[in-house]
Amino acid sequence: MSVTATRAVGSALGRIEGPAKVTGAAKYAGEQDDIQDVAYVWPVQSTIAKGRIRHIDDAPIRDRPQVLAVLTPDNAPHLQPLADAELAVLQTRNVAYRGQIVAAVVAQTLETAREAAEQLQIEYDEEAHDVELTQDHQSLYKPEHVNPSFPTDTEQGEVDHALATAAFSVDHTYETPALHNNPMEPHATLAIWHGDELTLYDSNQGAYSVQQTLAQLFDLDPAAVHVMSQHVGGGFGSKGTARVNAVLAAMSARLVRRPVKLALHRHHQFAVVGYRTPTIQRIKLGADADGRLTAISHDVVEQTSTLMEFAEQTAIATRIMYAAPNRRTTHRLARLDMPTPRWMRAPGECPGMYALESAMDELAIECDLDPLELRIRNEPARDPESGKPWSSRSLVECLRDGADRFGWAGRDPRPAVRYDGSWLVGTGVAASTYPAYAGPATAAARAERDGTFVVRITASDIGTGARTALTQIAADALRVGTDVVRVDIGDSAFGQANIAGGSMGTASWGWAVTKACTELREEVGRHGEIPVDGIEVHADTSAEIEARTGYKFQGFGAQFAEARVNVDTGEVRVPRLLGVFGVGRVINSRTARSQLIGGMTMGLSMALHEEGVLDPAFGDYVNHDLAEYHVASCADVTDIAAHWVDEQDDHVNPMGSKGIGEIGIVGTAAAVANAVHHATGVRVRDLPIRLDKLLGRLPTRTG
Ligand code: MOS
Repeated sequence: MSVTATRAVGSALGRIEGPAKVTGAAKYAGEQDDIQDVAYVWPVQSTIAKGRIRHIDDAPIRDRPQVLAVLTPDNAPHLQPLADAELAVLQTRNVAYRGQIVAAVVAQTLETAREAAEQLQIEYDEEAHDVELTQDHQSLYKPEHVNPSFPTDTEQGEVDHALATAAFSVDHTYETPALHNNPMEPHATLAIWHGDELTLYDSNQGAYSVQQTLAQLFDLDPAAVHVMSQHVGGGFGSKGTARVNAVLAAMSARLVRRPVKLALHRHHQFAVVGYRTPTIQRIKLGADADGRLTAISHDVVEQTSTLMEFAEQTAIATRIMYAAPNRRTTHRLARLDMPTPRWMRAPGECPGMYALESAMDELAIECDLDPLELRIRNEPARDPESGKPWSSRSLVECLRDGADRFGWAGRDPRPAVRYDGSWLVGTGVAASTYPAYAGPATAAARAERDGTFVVRITASDIGTGARTALTQIAADALRVGTDVVRVDIGDSAFGQANIAGGSMGTASWGWAVTKACTELREEVGRHGEIPVDGIEVHADTSAEIEARTGYKFQGFGAQFAEARVNVDTGEVRVPRLLGVFGVGRVINSRTARSQLIGGMTMGLSMALHEEGVLDPAFGDYVNHDLAEYHVASCADVTDIAAHWVDEQDDHVNPMGSKGIGEIGIVGTAAAVANAVHHATGVRVRDLPIRLDKLLGRLPTRTG
């Protein structure tokens, strides 16, 4: 594999679909206004956390004008059971969590559907529920593996002995709350049946995956299911596979024999599309007199549901971050009467690195070392887990470059000594990491007689700029300008392709696009003249992906934060965030910066605001909207910058690029927490860093 100099790749090309988006011409799943005779479905959610539906009385609503159907477990179309049991919508009277869909009303208007749904009478046989995650929960068990297929536990050397004999050590427990994906575009589907053929306009991160899943659920040939998702307003993992919106819309449309639209309300999102599991993580680190790690131990407790297993891979980053001869990681799950957790931006790495990078800061203080220097001293020459060489690893460069840009040199390590009026000021650093995955994909490339080129691939642009990046990659492989290339995406008819997830979208699709376009260029070269019906080639990268071994492919970064804490009120502000990343070749500097800054903003949000607040009595998170579930807004983000080091990686893929969708959120919360400690001397080990966790612990001002 060789990375050659190119023209379009690396530029700051504006989003191809930008004008269509800002003028409203770009149609999202819920905006297909040329489809006639559309009906609407409104889901009804369980008001108990555990039990069984005794009776559903639809008499008050079923004969109303405009009500087309009331779906219940008694009349809902039968679905084939899948491993993703959350998709078995209305297949049983059992209730597994509060907020589960237990009925739905289909009506001619959205307003009627919603109003009727609110009047449906449901009686339950309620049972006692169990919703609180604790470190010693009686249901804790060891899953067979953690997502997607990592070993649950790892152990090397004599961890306990090394900890007992270490010159310096730390042993702390860190907690992260449930976090909820809130893409601006809620999950939405318009479902249309023609006989036994199903068409979906659906908001998702991968139309091919949704096509396959819906075909299985409804026992159809995949060719009979057509999924389109040209424009998607965010997902963060919650649209990574088909969700209940697609299933319920398709069921409803089948029952009423009309197109049916379902756009989940923001309130629904908090229960039915997944969320990041809360975690309880115990980290123990041991170091020798020079600050070289002798032992790393990371024990994770997290939750899953009673419906199915979801095992977040929280400690996997700990397995590869630092060199140490003695290392151990474990994951244990509690089965709770809660919705099933799911993917949320950097599942695993994000909560795990909050704990590890907080503990590294605590160890640096124990060792009396600069936290940057502690990390540099423990830089592993190879992947500590597999022993493989890194295809590239630039953590040290990122730390040094970030330190220069941020102004780290000469930092006074003492906590709680810098005042600006009534504000305590501090700075913190943490490392970031995310794997550079790639998956097999198919792509088609076509030369038209008029000198233009069309590329088709089932890619998904969820707001990342993927369509634009692929256009750049295609143009360079074809050796033409981006103005004569059109990349069509978001259509399951274009064949198998990876989802926009695991930060592997552009790597996977770009690989297939490179292959198809390179072959097309050669084919066109052989022809001399393009025939009237054009020239088309198809490419599949399965073989290339299989051959991709021998190295550990991983991106790294360093995040720096400045925190200010008001000594009277406990308010926390983060006036500065700066990240430097080693992510291979950057395909599009504008959209890449936007991804990295977006991830960092979400990390800031995690550090200070986001939290699913559990009400144990009702058995549910009580904050179900953006008024009560706070996400960072413009006023929270003042000076935020993302940079990258010049990292050449000839092994990772033909573009030399690593994923950038998720790494920006990894480590950010630790950098903020470390800065808050430096400002105040208070170590908050459970996110978010709310003012009530600081008040009463802040130093008394003397000045
Ligand atoms: Mo991302 S959580 O892998 O879509």
